[in-house]
Amino acid sequence: MAHINDHYLKLEAGYLFPEIGRRVEAYQAAHPDAPVIRLGIGDVTLPLVPVIVQALHEAVDDMGRAEDFKGYGPGQGYPFLVDAILEHDFRSRGVELEADEVFVSDGSKQDSGNIQEIFGTDCSVLVTDPVYPVYVDTNVMAGRTGGGDGAGYYEGMQYLPANEANGFVPAPPDGSADLAYLCSPNNPTGSVMTREQLTAWVDWARACDAVILFDAAYDAFISDPVLPRSIYEIPGAKECAIEMRSFSKRAGFTGMRCAYTIVPKALQGSDANGEKVSIHSLWARRQATKFNEVPYIIQRAAAAAFSQEGQKQTCEQVAYYMENARRVRDGLSAAGFTVFAGVHAPYIWLRTPEGLRSWDFFDVLLEKTHVVGTPGSGFGPAGEGYFRISAFNSRENVDEAVSRIQKAFS
Ligand code: MLT
Repeated sequence: MAHINDHYLKLEAGYLFPEIGRRVEAYQAAHPDAPVIRLGIGDVTLPLVPVIVQALHEAVDDMGRAEDFKGYGPGQGYPFLVDAILEHDFRSRGVELEADEVFVSDGSKQDSGNIQEIFGTDCSVLVTDPVYPVYVDTNVMAGRTGGGDGAGYYEGMQYLPANEANGFVPAPPDGSADLAYLCSPNNPTGSVMTREQLTAWVDWARACDAVILFDAAYDAFISDPVLPRSIYEIPGAKECAIEMRSFSKRAGFTGMRCAYTIVPKALQGSDANGEKVSIHSLWARRQATKFNEVPYIIQRAAAAAFSQEGQKQTCEQVAYYMENARRVRDGLSAAGFTVFAGVHAPYIWLRTPEGLRSWDFFDVLLEKTHVVGTPGSGFGPAGEGYFRISAFNSRENVDEAVSRIQKAFS
């Protein structure tokens, strides 16, 4: 009989969003007429912008013409997309990268889950808490931790609490780690790192030879141009950081799947003999073996998001969601909730009322208002007593949800 990967058995709970889905389905089955509004998972609701739809049509036509047909792609992404990424996401912010430091992929969830494969299972791992569950779960699966303690902590993983006292942006620890996951703008707390805060992390990583895995999937929601969008805006980051970005939220691609990861050639790890090894070449090897490129059609659509009209249209979508976020923040604040974020991220983080535990508030909210959110404790123990509301929905639904919450809790 095949022996399974025992590390999977250490996982203490199912993946958060299917768990929420199950609970909502059960509620909906018991209350078929309840007008449920879903502000749980951060999934976009607006249709693709016209310029992207047009690019899709044109790319489909290309695939139907012998002279333009494409089979396997070039490996790390078509030059038309990679060049657009380099120009618009980096050069425009003063960052120079080489084309083959970009790895176009089918999602930041995948990349942030897979990246740990190229590091030793003896690497120590640091996460902020609460945290996007993928970072923790994939390291548990890989055997980099011991068992869970029942409270959501896994033995051997280092947790830095993100709380009200530190503005939900923990400073680097006094000690070291081999791998550190950072996410800014942060999912789930919606906090964003300043240049000074990110610099402190880069300095820390360089001092202790750590690799920062920087998830910038929500960079498009940063509303202050002074704030860093890429970790490579910080001097020295190319020697200590991998960055992940996504088209999911910025261009409505959650169902299309396109993202990219930057692995700079300056980044090194060490082998069993202490010899330096290029991390870039390991990731290139891993991708060449296990991944076969995002479809041409999807890459054409992603590139269209960088055209002048594409930028205008996708920025309007981001602004729409951020106006939703403002309405949730202001509306819940007026109802007496203590709310955070929703300024540089499409998430509002709030303290649950009357000391309710996160999952209890999930049930109360669903029962009283038929609004679905995400319990903070689902993102880690330090999220207990907090709750996340997503701004991804129609204006009408967001206004209706706010009004129901105000009526139920004021
Ligand atoms: C979330 O709601 O946290 C996100 O949708 C998760 C994801 O992007 O995978």
